[in-house]
Amino acid sequence: MGMYIINGGNRLDGELHIEGSKNAVLPILAASIINGRQSVIHNVPYLKDVKTMIDVLETIGCTCSFEGDTVIVNSVGDLDINIPEKPVREMRSSIILMGVMLGRFKKVKISFPGGCEIGLRPIDLHLTGLRLLGAKIVESHGYILCECDKLYGNEIHLDYPSVGATENIMLAAVSAEGVTIIQNAAREPEIVDLQNFLNKMGAKITGAGSSTIKIEGVKKFHDAEHTVIPDRIVAGTYSVAAAITQGRIVIRDIIPEHIKPILLKLEESGCKINRYDSDIVISSSGRHNAIDIIKTMPYPGFPTDMQAQMMALMCTAKGTSIFIETIFENRYKHAEELIKMGADIKIEGRAAIVKGVNNLMGAHVFSKDLRGGAALVLAALAADGTTIVDNVDTHIERGYENMDLKLKSLGADITKEK
Ligand code: EPZ
Repeated sequence: MGMYIINGGNRLDGELHIEGSKNAVLPILAASIINGRQSVIHNVPYLKDVKTMIDVLETIGCTCSFEGDTVIVNSVGDLDINIPEKPVREMRSSIILMGVMLGRFKKVKISFPGGCEIGLRPIDLHLTGLRLLGAKIVESHGYILCECDKLYGNEIHLDYPSVGATENIMLAAVSAEGVTIIQNAAREPEIVDLQNFLNKMGAKITGAGSSTIKIEGVKKFHDAEHTVIPDRIVAGTYSVAAAITQGRIVIRDIIPEHIKPILLKLEESGCKINRYDSDIVISSSGRHNAIDIIKTMPYPGFPTDMQAQMMALMCTAKGTSIFIETIFENRYKHAEELIKMGADIKIEGRAAIVKGVNNLMGAHVFSKDLRGGAALVLAALAADGTTIVDNVDTHIERGYENMDLKLKSLGADITKEK
């Protein structure tokens, strides 16, 4: 399970390189199946979820190497169309293998990913999109069997700008006959990174980053080499670490535009932020201002993956902040753990009312999901006394590369215990 032991009160001061994006590299690893050749992918973060995806690729027949921050995948030959069940259960995002396998092998069997800690996580939009491309999909006994003679381009209007559904449809449509238009597509930077990787292997995609994406199917693909974008949520998380400890951190190797909605809220709370081409310097002093409303929205709105971290900061702000979580139906599990630390939080459905208290107190708390766990670490950095954040192996280390070592390098008093 693993736990972090944190003695709060240290101001963080120093500089930090931000690793590659988990949510960009996972679909890109899946996409490396498409070309049936070699893909060289740089700036890959060393995370549990990345290792899980690499294991899946190897299990179905790819050969992979992971040296430093570079992953090389060779997907030549016939791959097993049966996606192993365990990794899909452990990592829902494996569901994007449906689109690539359907596109290349016209058949795939994968277990239903099911829900997770933050919600039911349905995949109806994925399945509707693939059916519109010509897939016959049968769901039975917890499995999904997709087959097609051929995929044909089509016009697909998503009821909701789902990130995963947009990715799955793109990953299938690149091999379809004809043109596919995705309307009301997700606009996240990770979608743009996937488009750029796919185009490097010979796909013809335009429009990623906007609500309308056009994909012209192609027959042949070639080798590809790509460098993954930096992780905007990791950058946002360490930005909050500077804010909550009233410290100063130079955050390097990021794309400031990608974290604009986060930085604007941090400035509203009283942080000072200098922006450069690929770095920011964030500093803070004194008690933060509360923020009237923090409403999570699809990109470029305030990201749901930063809701918990921002709540940790608002727990000791001057005044009351109201969070509205519009994306996932069960994403306040960190609130009860923050309350154990002395926070004043009331949950009303999708709203969380956070009344600032003078300070939080150390306690033994449990991470319940990836970003909620990160929020507990942030709260512990500023709390009075010692905090134990439990279950870090299960959650936090899925999405943050060496979080304890990075925080320690900035002056945090943090140790990891098995
Ligand atoms: C991606 O999840 C990210 N994961 C999530 O990050 C992120 O929170 C989310 O996008 C929103 O930005 C990865 O990229 C691996 P969605 P995804 O499909 O694709 C509903 C993290 O912490 N929906 O945009 O699953 C769904 O229930 C993770 O790194 C349907 O109803 O998100 C949710 O309410 C957590 N039907 C909303 O859309 C569908 O078919 C957003 O889901 C699909 C989604």
